[in-house]
Amino acid sequence: MNRSLLALMMAFGLNVAANATLAEQHVEMNDGCETCHAEGAPSADGSYEVEQCKACHGEMAEMEGIHPKHDGLLECSDCHQPHEQDTAAEVSCDSCHDDGRKAQ
Ligand code: HEC
Ligand code: HEC
Ligand code: HEC
Ligand code: HEC
Repeated sequence: MNRSLLALMMAFGLNVAANATLAEQHVEMNDGCETCHAEGAPSADGSYEVEQCKACHGEMAEMEGIHPKHDGLLECSDCHQPHEQDTAAEVSCDSCHDDGRKAQ
């Protein structure tokens, strides 16, 4: 393959990854939509999806940062909306706390 074409493809690939949503990132690294959805289709109440999050990442009580404070109170998808957020997106606290707090 032509080297400049290869460089172009690599640059394009990196660019796609940097702008990927959380869902797209997970689709690429695992088994497609079935990484989170049974048979690739969303469940009615989202509980199947959250069980998949926990199976890989663990319970909030054992996670770092802001997670333990919300253990037993929230689900992953209250803060991480995989189809709406880029991987680099900062989770907003404002939808629930009105004192301007942020994750450190
Ligand atoms: C990282 C886990 C994850 C992956 C991978 C994922 N989804 Fe989802 N999806 C969710 C969650 C969680 C919801 C619940 C709504 C939300 O919070 O965005 C959802 C919701 C949906 C919905 C309901 C409409 C909506 O956007 O809220 C559809 C349709 C959907 N997903 C399709 C897909 C398809 C098709 C794929 C593969 C290309 C996929 N999902 C990959 C986690 C995932
Ligand atoms: C099959 C295992 C698996 C499932 C299911 C899964 N993840 Fe992940 N997730 C990973 C891996 C591997 C990474 C990359 C390494 C890391 O950051 O832990 C990752 C990364 C992430 C990141 C960091 C993204 C970044 O690049 O900064 C978030 C946030 C995340 N996952 C949330 C979720 C949520 C929410 C769900 C459920 C809707 C979920 N994950 C389901 C394996 C999984
Ligand atoms: C209160 C909102 C909130 C909830 C609920 C939440 N997260 Fe997070 N998550 C964050 C924030 C904010 C960050 C950025 C780093 C930090 O401050 O902890 C983050 C970062 C992450 C990361 C990447 C960094 C790391 O700690 O590994 C993963 C993976 C992740 N969350 C997965 C999950 C999973 C899985 C759940 C459900 C079991 C969950 N989160 C529930 C807010 C939340
Ligand atoms: C989906 C709603 C929701 C989001 C988003 C959310 N929280 Fe919370 N948080 C709660 C609830 C509910 C509690 C428990 C009741 C309380 O103490 O306010 C709580 C409690 C806390 C606590 C422990 C009690 C206190 O007030 O000191 C801290 C610290 C905290 N949240 C920080 C954050 C930060 C930082 C973010 C953004 C990264 C965030 N939260 C996002 C709902 C949320």
